[in-house]
Amino acid sequence: MRIDILSAVPDLLIGPFDHSILQRARKRGLLEVNVIDLRQFGLGKHKQIDDYQYGGGAGMVMMPEPLFEAITSLSSTTDYDHVIFFTPDGDPFTQGMANQISMRKNLLCICGHYKGIDQRIRDHLITMEISIGDYVLSGGELAAAILVDAVGRLIPGVLNDETSALFDSFQDGLLAPPVYTRPSQFKSWKVPDILLSGNDAAIAEWREEQAIQRTRDRRPDLMKD
Ligand code: 6GU
Repeated sequence: MRIDILSAVPDLLIGPFDHSILQRARKRGLLEVNVIDLRQFGLGKHKQIDDYQYGGGAGMVMMPEPLFEAITSLSSTTDYDHVIFFTPDGDPFTQGMANQISMRKNLLCICGHYKGIDQRIRDHLITMEISIGDYVLSGGELAAAILVDAVGRLIPGVLNDETSALFDSFQDGLLAPPVYTRPSQFKSWKVPDILLSGNDAAIAEWREEQAIQRTRDRRPDLMKD
């Protein structure tokens, strides 16, 4: 899978893809991430990318020309399955969306800044709008990094048995059960006996019960359907 990210602040995306599971995905050739600086498509001597908004009001808006030039230029060499814009008024990002997106080949992610991007770009060039939650970030970069992480780990071959996504929170509509490692007793705090029992069926049942309990307690909204 190839993910291109268009950003006015590309330095924000130095680092997040260079470690751990995403680094392994890239080394295995399963994931390619490219960050492209929007500024190189800016207008004039100052490479302008934003301007005041029509109708007045505080905050700058990202201009259509640099975004159009960047998106059409990148699209001339890559056939994107989706051009994704990150915005607080987008569709809420879910594990289900991550699963769907992980089956795609090429994505172009657009990170907005300031008050947002000119609506005409959203109307004509963007195919998917994503929000990562009900709060406002100063730009789409961290949201894009979250999408790359959530999607990248689902690409077939990235995770192995031990890190399998099958038992993640949300994959079965439930939160994940608690986990423990050695020592079996730390201070006076003990690991639940069942996990030391060697009874795989009983352990599986316990985990299922814990997952249901946890979801009921913490996220009853997930239990509704
Ligand atoms: Cl995707 N972008 C920005 N700027 N703020 C957000 C967001 C995205 N999702 C939630 N808040």
